[in-house]
Amino acid sequence: MVVSSAPGKVYLFGEHAVVYGEPAVPCAIERRARVTVEERDDDALRVQATDLSLDGFTVEYSGESSDRPDIDVPESLVDAAIGYVDAAAAQARDAADRPDAGFDITIESEIPLGAGLGSSAAVVVAGIDAGTRELGVELSAREIAERAYRVEHDVQDGQASRADTFCSAVGGAVRIEGDDCHAIRDVPNLPFVIGYDGGAGDTGELVAGVRALKDEYDFAADTVSAIGDVVRQGERALQAGDLEELGQLMDFNHGLLEALGVSSRSLDEMVWAARESDALGAKLTGAGGGGCIVALDESEEARTALSYTPGCEETFRAELDTDGVRVEEGA
Ligand code: PMV
Repeated sequence: MVVSSAPGKVYLFGEHAVVYGEPAVPCAIERRARVTVEERDDDALRVQATDLSLDGFTVEYSGESSDRPDIDVPESLVDAAIGYVDAAAAQARDAADRPDAGFDITIESEIPLGAGLGSSAAVVVAGIDAGTRELGVELSAREIAERAYRVEHDVQDGQASRADTFCSAVGGAVRIEGDDCHAIRDVPNLPFVIGYDGGAGDTGELVAGVRALKDEYDFAADTVSAIGDVVRQGERALQAGDLEELGQLMDFNHGLLEALGVSSRSLDEMVWAARESDALGAKLTGAGGGGCIVALDESEEARTALSYTPGCEETFRAELDTDGVRVEEGA
């Protein structure tokens, strides 16, 4: 039996624009998904998941089964969750050249599902690491990132960038531009505060919406390029350790995402609650439509303000996690 864990992430800058080749800077946060994998005697796959903000579900299936857990969340999220685990297991079998290996898999996650914190990437990255180690193969963080990206790419119909999977595999702050991914060194402490509205956006739909706007209007295409400019300026502010400027640029980035139609009333309300307290800046993180915002605040003010904001279901501090995927037990 092997237990591996991998972190979730926030986008400091650049979601959506990264899909069109602009740079993005996601940062790993100290909220993790833990995946336990034990090889079975047969070729079946048994998956148990708790804490996926899904009230806990158990799915037992082998290969193509159409079993569905009986839970009250959008079916697309459940389908996606099952698809991710299935594909992660397939990657582990492929990496170890053991096409018939069966697994008992248990997932425990502290990362809300579909909320912009990279929950699926963390599960896939930790799952591939634990699955391959259980079969006696050890992959580098980059190899795991590559295989996890293939999983996300397939499950999300080719719409996924490398941001979530690379960030979760290597940890810290990273820079993604197309296929070029690397860690950003010497990053200052980033005092992230998260606000979560309890909801989730449909990434596929939101990405398609931005694509349609971009195809229809030159000014929407310019908005996407402007996000790229904000990211490049943000990288300079990050290297200089200028938190004030980072906050200002997060505000700017949120405004551009809002213009592209991917924010929501609850996300905007949380962003404003954080800004009106002591936060240096705030923006939605991830696909949008619902889910999480990230604010930069060294004090407790933003967290307090968010806890009193109608529509904010949960707020927590999330330190930058310099560790990527790691083994917790076994192997
Ligand atoms: O909501 P998340 O964490 O899956 O992020 C989606 C980010 C997008 O840029 C909209 C899509 C992507 O794959 O980069």
